[in-house]
Amino acid sequence: MTAPVPLIAGNWKMHGLAAALDEARAVAAGVGAAGARVALCPPASLVHRMSQALAGSAVLVGGQDCRAEETGAFTGDVSAEMLADAGAVLVILGHSERRAGYGESDALVAAKTLAALHAGLEPIVCVGETLAQRKAGEAIAVVTAQVRGSLPPELAGRPFSVAYEPVWAIGTGLTPTTPEIEEIHRAIRATLAAMFASAQAPILYGGSVKPGNAAEILHAAEVGGALVGGASLKAADFLGIVGAL
Ligand code: 13P
Repeated sequence: MTAPVPLIAGNWKMHGLAAALDEARAVAAGVGAAGARVALCPPASLVHRMSQALAGSAVLVGGQDCRAEETGAFTGDVSAEMLADAGAVLVILGHSERRAGYGESDALVAAKTLAALHAGLEPIVCVGETLAQRKAGEAIAVVTAQVRGSLPPELAGRPFSVAYEPVWAIGTGLTPTTPEIEEIHRAIRATLAAMFASAQAPILYGGSVKPGNAAEILHAAEVGGALVGGASLKAADFLGIVGAL
């Protein structure tokens, strides 16, 4: 079985005004012949302008969340089709900041993932354990249950990725050891293999990925790329991670 094409995606979270598009342009100018697909996921307010700024470049644009419904009286929300209409080709779903901050369940993430598929977006579905769950020895059980509950069967044969983001590693500067990352990624791979006949989905690692630790993380077994938060806001840092592959 051929290895999945790696994906390195930047999640800008709630950061970025129009001036930040210069960083996106600098990423596009610096990517060159990367060994991975490269994406930036800005806040919804910048999706259209970034997709225009990066048109014709190798850098893909993604959203950070979408509503499961196509339209309706959902003040403040954005549908998958709206993101696609604005130029997004990917969307992050089930990020722990949404699971924790908005009570998003696996079932809701699965519904959003289905909506993304219907809109032609490639989902990046996030999973990850809390520190308490890791300390209790529950990391594998929690993460594989999230994978089973958050990925609808309709993903079979469609491009998607799973991002393993331990909650305690996000924005903290802490990362699991390489064997700990590999243990979880292998468990996710086995779960995907049981769910989908031939799952070629890359399994991304996310949580305090920086230029200095990217090479070791990206070359770990079953790591098919990275989902990068803080270090994706500056082109030089993000390019340092892309270049580490
Ligand atoms: P940091 O890279 O800032 O730790 O964030 C990771 C993350 O949450 C990406 O989605």
